[in-house]
Amino acid sequence: MCGIVGFTGRQSAAPVLLEGLKKLEYRGYDSAGIACEQKGTISVSKVSGRIANLCEKTENGRLVPGCSGIGHTRWATHGAPTDINAHPHVSNDGRFSVVHNGIIENYMELRKELTARGYQFQSETDTEVIVHLIEMYYKGNLKDAVMKATSRLEGSYALGIMCSDCPGTLFAVREASPLILGIGVGENFFASDVTALVAYTRNAIYLDDGEFAELTADDMTVFDCTGTPIHKPVSRITWSIEAAEKGGYEHFMLKEIMEQPRAVKSAIAPRIQDDRVHLDDFEFTADELRDIRKIVITACGSAYYAGCAGRYAIEKLCRIPVTVELASELRYNDPQIDEHTLLIVLSQSGETADTIAAMRECQARGAKSLAIVNVVGSTIAKLADHTMYTWAGPEIAVATTKGYTTQLTVLYLFALYAAEKLDLISSESYHKLIDALETLPKMMQQVLDMNPALPKMAKKYNSKGSVFYIGRNTDYAVALEGALKMKEISYIHAEAYAAGELKHGTIALIDEGQPVIALCCNEQIAEKTMNNIIEVKARGAKVLAVARKGNRAILSHADDVIYIPKVEPLFSAAVEIVPLQLLAYYVAKDNGCDIDKPKNLAKSVTVE
Ligand code: M6R
Repeated sequence: MCGIVGFTGRQSAAPVLLEGLKKLEYRGYDSAGIACEQKGTISVSKVSGRIANLCEKTENGRLVPGCSGIGHTRWATHGAPTDINAHPHVSNDGRFSVVHNGIIENYMELRKELTARGYQFQSETDTEVIVHLIEMYYKGNLKDAVMKATSRLEGSYALGIMCSDCPGTLFAVREASPLILGIGVGENFFASDVTALVAYTRNAIYLDDGEFAELTADDMTVFDCTGTPIHKPVSRITWSIEAAEKGGYEHFMLKEIMEQPRAVKSAIAPRIQDDRVHLDDFEFTADELRDIRKIVITACGSAYYAGCAGRYAIEKLCRIPVTVELASELRYNDPQIDEHTLLIVLSQSGETADTIAAMRECQARGAKSLAIVNVVGSTIAKLADHTMYTWAGPEIAVATTKGYTTQLTVLYLFALYAAEKLDLISSESYHKLIDALETLPKMMQQVLDMNPALPKMAKKYNSKGSVFYIGRNTDYAVALEGALKMKEISYIHAEAYAAGELKHGTIALIDEGQPVIALCCNEQIAEKTMNNIIEVKARGAKVLAVARKGNRAILSHADDVIYIPKVEPLFSAAVEIVPLQLLAYYVAKDNGCDIDKPKNLAKSVTVE
C-alpha cells in the first residue's frame, strides 16, 4: 500500500526520505520517488521497482539536493507501476509537488475540468489532479490553495505537499488515510506510520480526518478543516527501532512467528489481575451485555479467520449468537444490525479500507462497536466505541502471524469476561479457563521448540499442485488460516475444507500423492476427522496431521504427525496455527519466494 514521508530540517532531506521509505517497504509497493527543494527549485527522482533502484539512481539521494522534501512508495491502483505514474507528481509550472496515499474518487471529472482549463497531465494517476488543482488555486498563499484544492476532492487521501515559493515549508493533509507528524529538534517529519519516524523522533502527533499541518524546520502548526490552528496532544512512540527490525532472523515473518509467545503474553498479562479478567478498555455492565442480542465479527483476510476461530469460544461461553462476516461483503449486504448488536472489528493495521467501511455502515445502524486492533491511534481504533489493543508490537511481514494469534487471544479474553459478567460460567470453570489462557504463551513456546522436523516436512509436503487443509469446528477455522498462509507466501494453491464436506464433492480432487494437512486437535471431534484421514489415504493422499500430544491412534493413519501440547480445547486454535505458519514459511523459503513481501500483496490494504 502507498506510503508517504516528509522531512524539513537543516540536513539533506533525500537520505532521510530514502531511509523512511525503506521502513515503509513492508506495506508493499511497486514504485517509489522523492522530491526535494533547494533554492526555489524542486528536483524529482522516481523509479518503478524497489527503493534500492531509487537509491542507485539518486546516488543515495546526492543527486536530489535540498533540506526539505517528500517521498512516496506507490502500490498501483490507477495506472501501471511505471516511472511516470510514480509519485511525487509535479505541477505544469514546476512549482508544486505532491505525494498521495489513498484514492480520489472524483478524479475523472476533475481531470476533465482541468484539461479543459489547459492543464496537461503526464500520468494516468488519480493523484495528479491534486497538484494541478493546487497550481490553479495558488494566488501567493499555499495554505489557501491547499484548502481550496482539497475541498474539491472526494475520497481518501493523506497528502504531502511542497511549493518552490515556500522554501523549507511542507503541508501534510489527512482525510481517511493514516498520517502522523514527527516532532524533532530543528527538524520535523510526517509519515504514513511510525516505523518511518522512530529512527529520528519519538514525539508524534496523530492527525484526524479533515486536519492538516504546516511544517517548517522549527515549527509545526495543525489546523482543522476551516484553517483554524488547533492544539493536538503529542504522543510518545514506545516501539523500539529494534522491534521494527529483524533481530537476527532471516525474515520478519520468522521473527514474528517466534515472538508469538511474548506477544500473546503482552495481550493477556495486563488483563488478568487477581485471577480475574479485567478489561479497562471494555467496561460493559452486566445489563449492557444482556442488551446484546447478537455479536457480529467483521474483518478481512487473516483477521476474518481469527474471528472464525474466536467465535466458538464466545458462543460457547456467552451463549450469544455470533456471525463472522467478511467486511468487503458486509458493507454491501444491507445487514440486519441494530442497537442490540455488538460489532467486533478485528484488524492488525487498523487501516483496512473495507473493514472501516463495514464498521461505519454498522455504526450508522446503531451497533455498538468494539475494535481489536494492533496499531495504536489507527483509524479503526479511533472510530470504535471501545478499543482493545492486541499489544503485538510492530508487525512488518505482509503475512500476519502474531497479529492473528493476539487477535484470537483478545477474543478469548472477551469471551471469558462477558461470560462471567453474564453469570454464565461456574467459578471453577472460570478459573480453570483463566489458568489455561495464562499458559497459552508457554504452550506456543513448546510448539516452537518441539517441532525441529518442520523444515523436513516442508520439503515432503511442498507441492507443485495444491495442498488441502481439513478439519472440523475450531480445527476447520485454523485450516482456513493455515491455507491462507501457504497461498500468500509460497504461491501454492491451498484450500481448506470442513472435513465433513469432503464426501459432498471435494474428495473427487484427491489423487495419488495429494498432500493433505489434517487438523485433529479438537478432541471432541478428532476421531471424526481421523475417519476422513482414512478416506483420503484410501485414495492415495499423503497426510500430515496436527494432533494433541498423547493421540497415538493418529500415528497409524497419517503419514506424519506434528504434535502440539495438551492445550485447553477452547483455546487450541491459537497454538495449532503455529506449526502451520512454520510449514508455510519453510515451503516458501525452499521455493525461493520473497517471504516478507509476497508478490501482489500489501501489508495494509487502504483501498477497497
Ligand atoms: O490489518 P488488517 O488485520 O485489517 O488486515 C487484514 C488483511 O488484509 C490481512 O490479514 C491479510 O489477509 C494478511 N496478508 C494475511 O496474512
